[in-house]
Amino acid sequence: MTQNPVGAKPILRVEELRKYFPVKSGGVVRRTIGQVQAVDGVSFEVVEGGSLGLVGESGCGKSTTGRLVTRLLEPTAGSIDFDGQDIAKLSSSGLKPLRREIQMIFQDPYTSLNPRHTVGSIVGAPLEIHKVVPKKQVLSRVQELLEIVGLNPEHYNRYPHEFSGGQRQRIGIARALTLQPKLLVADEPVSALDVSIQAQVVNLLQDLQKEFGIAFLFIAHDLAIVRHFCPEVAVMYLGKIVEIGDRDSIYSHAHHPYTQALLSAVPDVKQAEVGGRRERIRLTGDVPSPINPPSGCRFRTRCPIAQEICAKVEPPLLQIGPRHKVACHFAGEIGHHPAEPVTAPLLAVDGQGNADTSATTDPTVLGGPGFSDQWYDLQTKSLTGR
Ligand SMILES: Nc1ncnc2c1ncn2[C@@H]1O[C@H](COP(=O)(O)OP(=O)(O)OP(=O)(O)O)[C@@H](O)[C@H]1O
Ligand code: SF4
Ligand SMILES: [Mg+2]
Repeated sequence: MTQNPVGAKPILRVEELRKYFPVKSGGVVRRTIGQVQAVDGVSFEVVEGGSLGLVGESGCGKSTTGRLVTRLLEPTAGSIDFDGQDIAKLSSSGLKPLRREIQMIFQDPYTSLNPRHTVGSIVGAPLEIHKVVPKKQVLSRVQELLEIVGLNPEHYNRYPHEFSGGQRQRIGIARALTLQPKLLVADEPVSALDVSIQAQVVNLLQDLQKEFGIAFLFIAHDLAIVRHFCPEVAVMYLGKIVEIGDRDSIYSHAHHPYTQALLSAVPDVKQAEVGGRRERIRLTGDVPSPINPPSGCRFRTRCPIAQEICAKVEPPLLQIGPRHKVACHFAGEIGHHPAEPVTAPLLAVDGQGNADTSATTDPTVLGGPGFSDQWYDLQTKSLTGR
């Protein structure tokens, strides 16, 4: 299993990132009548040579987050610190050097490669554009890259349609590696592939990560795929991160009902047993529209344990362990959710979510990317730390 490098510094630090897409009316004068809140205030870090998994159902904002980080999209708000530089507002000329350092692998190996170009020109194009090697060395570099990703280097003059899905994804990976990036955003790189091929491609990515020390933001639909690849995982729901943590916190001690529901679908993950049997949570209904998300907690319309406070107050992403944060008023392991909201004393509200002026807010453990040395202990209901 991969571990994040000990003591590594963040290569990517994303803070309060937002992307709203305008919704236009029909007719001649197209007015903006709403906003799709695709990504709504996410904060996370990826360490140098490390790997963070980003997981959630369709439409929760994973790809938009990936496209913001690679600056294929411009953020509405927030900062994206890459290797010490805020890249959130860079102009296209300012972004050019960055295009070498952050690369993306796309979900669909059938549409992400130009069918009219040979593999040699697809993989070699970045070398020529960025003038990385002299022209006459491009071919040998392309062949080297094809070999690294497990393809026959003699096939450089073939076209994408002459390859299988798994092989095409290897071509996409070779293209992403061409400029020796520091960060790779892999947007569901294996979900379009046969299950038998998926493990091969994930293993290839894992080998490449070890060999070249590339950091990964690995986007996936379900928690099964990122489990062995990513030492840290963030779970997204409707544009927000609802739980983030190291592998043990997420897979063995999930505290958010949404993460617990996603884990119910992963066959070999043991969740806490309730009454001697493994609890299964089935998600019903669809993800609500990100144009008009539910008030308070966005998950409340599908949450099996929602209470009054959930509609009134948005739960903050609260650090509850050395490397574990969760956004739920009733955070607790499956079957052990508390009766009273754990967040009330921190937010100066009562158990129903009404303002409680006698309480004081404690923002110490709230907000910010990464993990602090202090966290809120759910058992003792007090701040604790290393
Ligand atoms: N260019 C766009 N214009 C308007 N809305 C968009 C645009 N791109 C994405 N969206 C909306 O933003 C929301 C998040 O989309 P996104 O593609 O990031 O989700 P996702 O988590 O990657 O989903 P999937 O698992 O299906 O790939 C969706 O509601 C989507 O319809
Ligand atoms: S805050 Fe409330 S609605 Fe949201 S996940 Fe927790 S219990 Fe469910
Ligand atoms: Mg997507």
